[in-house]
Amino acid sequence: MADNVGNKPSKEYHLDIPVQTEGFFLKGLNNNDFGLKNRLSRIFQPKSGNAVVLAFDHGYIMGSTAGLERLDVTIAPLAPHVDVFMGTRGAIRSCFSPTMHPAVCLRATRDSSVLYDDMSVGNGCGVEMEDAIRMNASAVAVQTFIGAQGEADSLKTLCSYVDAGNRYGIPVLGVVAVGKEMERTAKFFLLATRILAEHGAHFVKTYYCDDFEKVTAACPVPIIVAGGKKLAEDEALAMTYRAIQEGAHGVDMGRNIFQSEDPTAMAQAIAKVVHEKYTNKQAYEFFMDTKKK
Ligand code: 5RP
Repeated sequence: MADNVGNKPSKEYHLDIPVQTEGFFLKGLNNNDFGLKNRLSRIFQPKSGNAVVLAFDHGYIMGSTAGLERLDVTIAPLAPHVDVFMGTRGAIRSCFSPTMHPAVCLRATRDSSVLYDDMSVGNGCGVEMEDAIRMNASAVAVQTFIGAQGEADSLKTLCSYVDAGNRYGIPVLGVVAVGKEMERTAKFFLLATRILAEHGAHFVKTYYCDDFEKVTAACPVPIIVAGGKKLAEDEALAMTYRAIQEGAHGVDMGRNIFQSEDPTAMAQAIAKVVHEKYTNKQAYEFFMDTKKK
């Protein structure tokens, strides 16, 4: 127990220094509690306000995907170059060391596999929040199917994760799903991202599209962009640059990193655009200089 006799008298009240009262650095998230903001600050870097999330959760619906045959070999070396690993609990527990640097964004929903015609049917809770906490997740990712047959079930699932996330301080990433028949237009993404945010998602993942600045403007919480199918490296960097210029707070990218001819150089080049204001041209030069010759 601390000795309470003979202590130095307290006098450093710093009356001349006003208490910092400005809001949180991420839009729309100031009215959340300390733990939730602390976890968000592991995902979005306070210096840039942005995040590089590496998505390798494809296996939960697709099985082994090109580039993800051995997560320990291909994904683990990318850890120093990204802020967040987004994967399933099965992949993260079995393939990585708990000493790794990236924060964890845990794929939390269960969805139908690609063998089923309609992936939106069967969406539900795949990981209890208790297990997400046990894994020290900095966020949980919840797939939501707007305009699909499974819409009602997936919104119910989203709401239950948001309730649990608010209870325990775990941010929820609302993932806008695009099924076979679903459009990839500003009209659809405006609708879907807003619906997810209004249901309480703390940040939202969607695809880049024309008029993307309208999508980011109308979404009251940060948006991160998905990568989608593999593009040439210069095209993927150009898409990332445009998304950041038009209000995205980072990327949640998979194939365009781990299927790159040099995933490490590509992860670093993406981070240059997301965190260091590189143009796509500068980042592509960096990629070409850095990739293994
Ligand atoms: C699907 C996802 C996946 O994580 C994402 O699509 C994978 O990234 P990429 O498309 O860049 O390979 O959220 O809903």
